Amino acid sequence: MNKSHPLLIVIGGCVLLGSVATGLGYWLTGGGPQSFRSDIVVHNSDGSPDSPPQASSPESASATDNTGAGPDAGPPPRSAIPDNEFGALVRKGEQIFADPGQYAGQYVGNDLRCQSCHFDAGRYDKTAPMRAAWPMYPAYRSKNQHVNDFAERLQGCFTYSMNGKAPPRGSDILQALEAYSFWLAKGTTVGESLPSKGFPDIGKPQQAPSYERGQAVFQANCALCHGADGQGQQAADGGYGFPPLWGKHSYNWGAGMHKVETAARFIKAAMPLGNPALTEQQAWDVAFFVNSHERPQDPRFDGSVQGTAKQFHHHDYARYGQSVDGQVLGSQAPPSATVP
Ligand code: HEC
Ligand code: HEC
Repeated sequence: MNKSHPLLIVIGGCVLLGSVATGLGYWLTGGGPQSFRSDIVVHNSDGSPDSPPQASSPESASATDNTGAGPDAGPPPRSAIPDNEFGALVRKGEQIFADPGQYAGQYVGNDLRCQSCHFDAGRYDKTAPMRAAWPMYPAYRSKNQHVNDFAERLQGCFTYSMNGKAPPRGSDILQALEAYSFWLAKGTTVGESLPSKGFPDIGKPQQAPSYERGQAVFQANCALCHGADGQGQQAADGGYGFPPLWGKHSYNWGAGMHKVETAARFIKAAMPLGNPALTEQQAWDVAFFVNSHERPQDPRFDGSVQGTAKQFHHHDYARYGQSVDGQVLGSQAPPSATVP
């Protein structure tokens, strides 16, 4: 049985009433009108429910379950998972995705879950859904300069986003995640990219991103859930609450999210949770601020921060190797891959 911890959160005139479900915490959109999380509901100060987050494209209006309408009506409903060996593997994949610390703990080196970034166990269509990913592999990745199959792409998120170790090729864990993603992609066309693939694009910033402006955005819109120190908050029983944004329990310096642009795209589309209404500039600024903090070392570290920065960190607004308050980011990084 999942336990719930009630939370009452007030955000600028809105009351965010919810509970952080521990355990598997499957966040169904089904009947939940306000957000993909049925356990967090945004209310206006008069107590009436807020309007749902704006859908920016036709395919995103369908949220998470296949209703049979439109070019991408979303993944099939959970109730359609077959009651056989294949279905059991699909369910296992969903469990791992929702709680890798519990179901794949030997490969996880931080306090995140796959669904910390790919919401609703990888179903939510604005946070790089697995339905859109599966049909597009094998694919060339500039990150490692060769063609990656889906298993290798999954391994990448363990190494970097989860600050862990890649489960071996052919392991039960990768097989279950592959079966689950394959299942979610039912009805898509192999090799044809869905509009929901990846995180939604964001325009270039009007002004160069700023640490000071980002800090103000963070204090006003993020600290409430992620903590003033960015370390997140655990549920009362030590279970999962709000994930850390930096420090040794977060994603490492090689993860996609450490790039300011990738974080800005994610934040614009999805944060603050339940009411993602920042301007593009605010999203850039707060992404710059979040990624201007120390986090676990880049697993590709070659012994020197400047050398590693030169090789791997030349994207726009790269923070690794830059100085913040007299300290070079990367020079105090806790070790990567601190798996149990
Ligand atoms: C810290 C955030 C974060 C976490 C945690 C995370 N990912 Fe990712 N993931 C990303 C980012 C960023 C991308 C790149 C998205 C893009 O290309 O726009 C990505 C991409 C992917 C892709 C390829 C998507 C595509 O469309 O090509 C897969 C598959 C994937 N992740 C699986 C996982 C799995 C499985 C886990 C857990 C073991 C996980 N991710 C954990 C951030 C995260
Ligand atoms: C209402 C609570 C809430 C607020 C406010 C909020 N977040 Fe989040 N955030 C979450 C939760 C919960 C998740 C994990 C998603 C999930 O588990 O469903 C998350 C995930 C994230 C992640 C990816 C996971 C990680 O830990 O790196 C980032 C980055 C992030 N939030 C940044 C922000 C930023 C920046 C703001 C402010 C603009 C913000 N959040 C405001 C609740 C919140």
